[in-house]
Amino acid sequence: MVSIIAAVAKNGVIGSEGKIPWDIPEDKAYFKKITSGGIVIMGRRTFEEIGFPLPKRHNIVVSRKKTFSGKNICTAENLEKALENAHIYAQKTGIDRIFLCGGEKIYTQGIEYAQRMYITEIDENYQGDTFFPKFSTDKFRLSERTYINGGKICFCIYECIKNK
Ligand SMILES: NC(=O)c1ccc[n+]([C@@H]2O[C@H](COP(=O)([O-])OP(=O)(O)OC[C@H]3O[C@@H](n4cnc5c(N)ncnc54)[C@H](OP(=O)(O)O)[C@@H]3O)[C@@H](O)[C@H]2O)c1
Repeated sequence: MVSIIAAVAKNGVIGSEGKIPWDIPEDKAYFKKITSGGIVIMGRRTFEEIGFPLPKRHNIVVSRKKTFSGKNICTAENLEKALENAHIYAQKTGIDRIFLCGGEKIYTQGIEYAQRMYITEIDENYQGDTFFPKFSTDKFRLSERTYINGGKICFCIYECIKNK
């Protein structure tokens, strides 16, 4: 299954100047819990911001730069190739949980492939320069909602009801 996982501010912001503009330990722990043991696909900028492959996950980084490579990561020249590689890896290993982990470029292109979205909704506006794409509730139905931190953060799960 292909899922998106993202933390999104009230005004849609996901990033600012290459970084995530908040530090929410509960969300970091949630991200780790949901993605561990799976396959993570991310854009080159997000990978460089993190600075290392995410442990206990198969890392695929998307970049147009033919020379781009790194230790313990796979690279793909576009998102479709990354998904193809992820499906091949899934067939070989039986690990079929594929997560699109950002940033904006990957979410925007990847939303049409997502069957599920794990969205941490943050009830606050942030200044930023990268945004989560707008999506229709005709296409994604909210299936779970868990509030934490006095209701300021919500772990939401959306299921795709109109698959590609
Ligand atoms: N809030 C969250 O949950 C969350 C999660 C992740 C990231 N973020 C934030 O998002 C921001 C980064 O987002 P971003 O959109 O600037 O960058 P990004 O999506 O992380 O990476 C963009 C790069 O990925 C490669 N790429 C994307 N689409 C491609 C395609 N179709 N074919 C080939 N390569 C492709 C390109 O790399 P090359 O330039 O090497 O060709 C492109 O420059 C940061 O601020 C980060 O902190 C937030």
